[in-house]
Amino acid sequence: MIIYAHRGASKHAPENTIPAFDLAYHHDADGIETDVQLTKDGVPVLIHDEKLQRTTNGNGFVKDYTYAELTQLDAGSWKSPQFADTVIPTLEDLLRWNQDKQLKLNIELKNNIFPYPGLEETVFQLLQKYNMVNQTVISTFNQESIVKLKQWSTELNYAFLTSKKDKNLIPFAESIKAEGIHIQYRLLTNRLVEQANQHDLYVAVYTVNLPLSIKRAIRMNCHAIFTDIPKLAVDLRKNT
Ligand code: G3P
Ligand code: CA
Repeated sequence: MIIYAHRGASKHAPENTIPAFDLAYHHDADGIETDVQLTKDGVPVLIHDEKLQRTTNGNGFVKDYTYAELTQLDAGSWKSPQFADTVIPTLEDLLRWNQDKQLKLNIELKNNIFPYPGLEETVFQLLQKYNMVNQTVISTFNQESIVKLKQWSTELNYAFLTSKKDKNLIPFAESIKAEGIHIQYRLLTNRLVEQANQHDLYVAVYTVNLPLSIKRAIRMNCHAIFTDIPKLAVDLRKNT
């Protein structure tokens, strides 16, 4: 089972920042999950919320600021004063950081609220530039992005994200040619895993932080989990 650090090791470091990715690497996560949005001037940046206020000292929407403006913000102090001066990273910062580590990547296109025209192209071109297409899964709640990306690249892996119970989930994921489904943990059942696997779809679950839930995902042969505490998951995987 692949262990992705959800927004980095985000329980102990500010989510979606280089310190959180560093900690995930030091805790032996197999991969990094992160969220990408576009700035006003089209730079892909790593931040979960569409609004800045929860995880930075800024206000308003990410999409209304240029990258230069966003670099002025503090994206670490909200977590702890020890992370003051941490900035919002770009996707390119992450890919550069990963060059000597070669972790797996799960890049979530955060385009279910704002469409961010050009996001898919920009992300794909950067993955090609850094030669990281093969180790990356693109996930999104926005199925149109998967359909669009599929037309350009069959080398990339794509997963459909959902938090909703839907009896048509598997036929739907098949119809858009996703490789996997990334589901909220409460949707996980043996039956769903079996059905998905019968249709050549893998199942990954988010966000799994409790020991019992992590062990359950391991025992149910989930393909991957997303956890804020990769160290806990790595230790449990050794002993389950
Ligand atoms: O990719 C899994 C998970 O990150 C999706 O939900 O809200 O944490 O981005 P969210
Ligand atoms: Ca995410």
